[in-house]
Amino acid sequence: MQQTFRETLDSTWGAAWDHGDVAALASIVTSDYVRVSRSSGKHAGLVDLQNEIEAIRSGFPDLVTTIDSVVTEDDTAAIFWTTTGTHTETFLGVPATNRRVQTRGCNHVNLVNGKIDREEVTWDGSELLHSLGIRHLSDAPSTSDDITLDDFSGEPDPQVMKTFNRQFITGVTVVTTQDQGAPKGLAVNAYASISLEPPLVMVCIQKTSSTYPALFAATHLGINILGTGQRETIATFASKSADKFAEVDWHAGPNGSPLIDGSPASLEAEIRERFQAKTHTVFICRVRHAEVVETPPIIYKAGRFYDSDDLTQL
Ligand SMILES: Cc1cc2nc3c(=O)[nH]c(=O)nc-3n(C[C@H](O)[C@H](O)[C@H](O)COP(=O)(O)O)c2cc1C
Repeated sequence: MQQTFRETLDSTWGAAWDHGDVAALASIVTSDYVRVSRSSGKHAGLVDLQNEIEAIRSGFPDLVTTIDSVVTEDDTAAIFWTTTGTHTETFLGVPATNRRVQTRGCNHVNLVNGKIDREEVTWDGSELLHSLGIRHLSDAPSTSDDITLDDFSGEPDPQVMKTFNRQFITGVTVVTTQDQGAPKGLAVNAYASISLEPPLVMVCIQKTSSTYPALFAATHLGINILGTGQRETIATFASKSADKFAEVDWHAGPNGSPLIDGSPASLEAEIRERFQAKTHTVFICRVRHAEVVETPPIIYKAGRFYDSDDLTQL
């Protein structure tokens, strides 16, 4: 007996998305099959779709997709579906967060002889990252006048940017997290307070940092503002030493983030957004706990450190 479109769809969709048998899709599409993204306008073929499914399944190996309903009219159909999976492996360059996501979509298909000839989709794999609270800066609404992160025209030489940054004075923090029970952290001066109400802060972390995957997977992080007496601590946390915490005393914040004893100020914050900015990730965090003592913070300018207790007020 010949299978209905719905029966073929259920079996091939399940084989491809839930079991990785992407070859099964060949039986439900025509040789002219084209898949059009409504958001980007990009056209893709069967091989692109198969590659995308394999990439998604490698990041979310327990992926399960359910077809909720199929509404047909003449030679067109709308397929409503729900996908659930756990982000346990790297996906689109984003390390595992071990978080579970659910996303929904609707594909509008044109049928020729009972097979899908053209498919318009409102969804792409980056939606899975959006569901995890991970966005690329280019996702932010922009006007046509904005320069995108990929537009290199008319930008200053990296050397000029270096000298520009050397004119900026900051403190130094150590950003920390727990990695399967082990404390991890790195020296960071790319810290900023965003707002007091709600208490939001941000830090910017290079993706090559060995602390980065653990930070990415964490729900919370610690930020310790270092003091004039912690010059050695900066050196430790700016290094690649395997156990940086062997040399410092610390205590855990309410959610386990390491807070370094003797720091002028420490906070623990919940990670709310992870903006992907090429080589770095900007973590936007909501502060849940803060500790402050009146010891002087260290000052950092152009690769040198200074004593904040020895400043001339203007
Ligand atoms: C003063 C100072 C400021 C730094 N600021 C940052 C920063 O804002 N973001 C960052 O990713 N790395 C920053 N670093 C570099 C990291 O601390 C350094 O690469 C470290 O070795 C990373 O350690 P990890 O790979 O063990 O995580 C800074 C280093 C110093 C000394």
